[in-house]
Amino acid sequence: MGESMQGLKRSHRCTEVTSQMVGQTVTVMGWVQKRRNLGSLIFVDLRDRSGLLQIVFDEDSVGKDGFEKAGSLRSEYVIAVIGTVQKRTAAVNDNLKTGDIEIIATDLRILSEAQTPPFQIEENSQTKDEVRLKYRYLDLRRPDIQRNLMLRSRVANLMRNFMEQEGFLEIETPVLCKSTPEGARDYLVPSRVHPGSFYALPQSPQIFKQLLMASGYDRYFQIAKCFRDEDLRADRQPEFTQADMELSFVDMDDVIDVNERLLQYVFREAIGVEITLPLPRMPWQEAMDRFGSDKPDTRFGMELNDVSEVVKGCGFGVFTGALEQGGSVRGINVKGQGAMPRKRIDKLVEFAKGYGAKGLAYLSVNEDGTYKSSFAKFMTEEELKQLVTAMEGEPGDLLLFAADRNKIVWNVLGALRLELAQELELLDENQYNFLWITEFPLLEWSDEENRFMAMHHPFTMPVEEDWANVDTDPGSVRAKAYDIVLNGTELGGGSVRIHQDDIQEKMFEVLGFTPEQAYEQFGFLLDAFKYGVPPHAGLAYGLDRMVMHMVHADSIRDVIAFPKVKDASCLMSNAPDVVDVRQLEELGIQVEETEKN
Ligand code: AMO
Ligand code: AMP
Repeated sequence: MGESMQGLKRSHRCTEVTSQMVGQTVTVMGWVQKRRNLGSLIFVDLRDRSGLLQIVFDEDSVGKDGFEKAGSLRSEYVIAVIGTVQKRTAAVNDNLKTGDIEIIATDLRILSEAQTPPFQIEENSQTKDEVRLKYRYLDLRRPDIQRNLMLRSRVANLMRNFMEQEGFLEIETPVLCKSTPEGARDYLVPSRVHPGSFYALPQSPQIFKQLLMASGYDRYFQIAKCFRDEDLRADRQPEFTQADMELSFVDMDDVIDVNERLLQYVFREAIGVEITLPLPRMPWQEAMDRFGSDKPDTRFGMELNDVSEVVKGCGFGVFTGALEQGGSVRGINVKGQGAMPRKRIDKLVEFAKGYGAKGLAYLSVNEDGTYKSSFAKFMTEEELKQLVTAMEGEPGDLLLFAADRNKIVWNVLGALRLELAQELELLDENQYNFLWITEFPLLEWSDEENRFMAMHHPFTMPVEEDWANVDTDPGSVRAKAYDIVLNGTELGGGSVRIHQDDIQEKMFEVLGFTPEQAYEQFGFLLDAFKYGVPPHAGLAYGLDRMVMHMVHADSIRDVIAFPKVKDASCLMSNAPDVVDVRQLEELGIQVEETEKN
């Protein structure tokens, strides 16, 4: 049940009413946050996306019927109020934007009644995620989520403004595509007209934006939905949004330049954070060696230290064994944590094992200069001393070591470093450390596939002077690829693309494609490039991730209106769901019975 809007026009959002307007008549509309009856007065907190406004009903002003109606209001009723702005007589609320004023109602309409919601609509709700997401339309009423989505809208607009001013054209690319090789699994859409054939939803607009460069559009930009069927994490969704761009007649520095100015503009205008340019850059190898990660959080130290040389002749078989296998021994110095209880250290060892470590060797430097260590008994006093010196260990420090293949050592210590920083509260969320990671390896060996894979994608340009070594040492070739990292998150990434067909053909060969296979998958791109293609390069941001950082959200779901949960389903709409048999028949699809787990 509800009354109509006839004759009503909203004059202000709740918090657009200010103390400068005392005496004016306003018409406000929104949801009832709370009602309090104080005998002859009824107070209602009215809520809309701008915030809260206090409404006062007294019988003299609103009439007998109106007062009775006000008495029937319950949480989440949608109402319209006409009234006069007045200074608050009592209980000025400094926490509220409208805390010094109230509306004395002369008219009330109930536009819609509401059932009691399954949870209170309030900031920082403690409600379980499953309940929140099942009733997402209610959850979305919470002020914190509303603020997030309003900021998201603003960020998208700022980006559009900036890109337009820089001469970028916003061009839409298809959602029903042939698959692009971004590395994740595709979502497939069956074709009714071509039974047995499937479209793939784009993992990114990569190929289309490159084609647009070949077609002369020069600078392209798009806020694009992307789809990847991969395991979800706190900062990953199966469908997410990229702010995607591509530029012609440019090299890496040109892309970096425009993007640094974009970041500076957007962070300043959206959240008032000043970024100093140019942003620092770090080659991939250095990032791995110092931080064990290609997206290092540089807000704190605790850097990795390669002690392979120091321990190579020592008596500890775990260390020397790893070195003999071609691996390394590296450590981190957890300053001032030498007295960490054994139980907590054991937890760290378990944590490390979760990242593939066989173990984690530790050594505390006691205040009297002696050591407490899991491996001291295997080493001489002199060897230990050299190791501690190499780690710059001082009394009170805790040293942690991993010995294994490089990849595992980096992974383990990189993760451990972040875990400890969180535990020890070393992370300042108001610090914004941007960093470009450059000179990624072009290729990455995949044990699973038993071949080299493109680390970014197969269209990424190799560093010219390395390309000659592609046959002899493919792993050593660096790519003209770059990621932009913020506080340990990969915000975006891109590369200079290959525009020469000889390099592209060779690249496919190295990746193990026959010319026929390459042509089958990317023929249209290869063909297009035969008709004249400018050198081009680009980059894409994860827009969700960017906003997530701006609002310090723990989960990407807090910046997406209708997100999916871990198993990629939507708890509200129950997608994905079974479909009508007739729909399947039309598509020529038969579904095998699988046991529900
Ligand atoms: P890339 O695969 O690095 O590059 O993706 C670009 C950015 O998109 C974000 N992102 C995601 N965000 C949320 N959920 C996901 N599942 C997800 N996957 C990626 C990240 C990432 O940095 N076509 C290239 C770009 C280019 O070369 O121009 C590409 O898609 O923030
Ligand atoms: P062990 O001799 O196996 O009891 O190991 C002695 C110490 O070395 C223990 O603290 C183990 O956790 C640690 N350790 C075992 N394997 C490794 C490894 N690959 N890297 C670092 N430490 C390890």
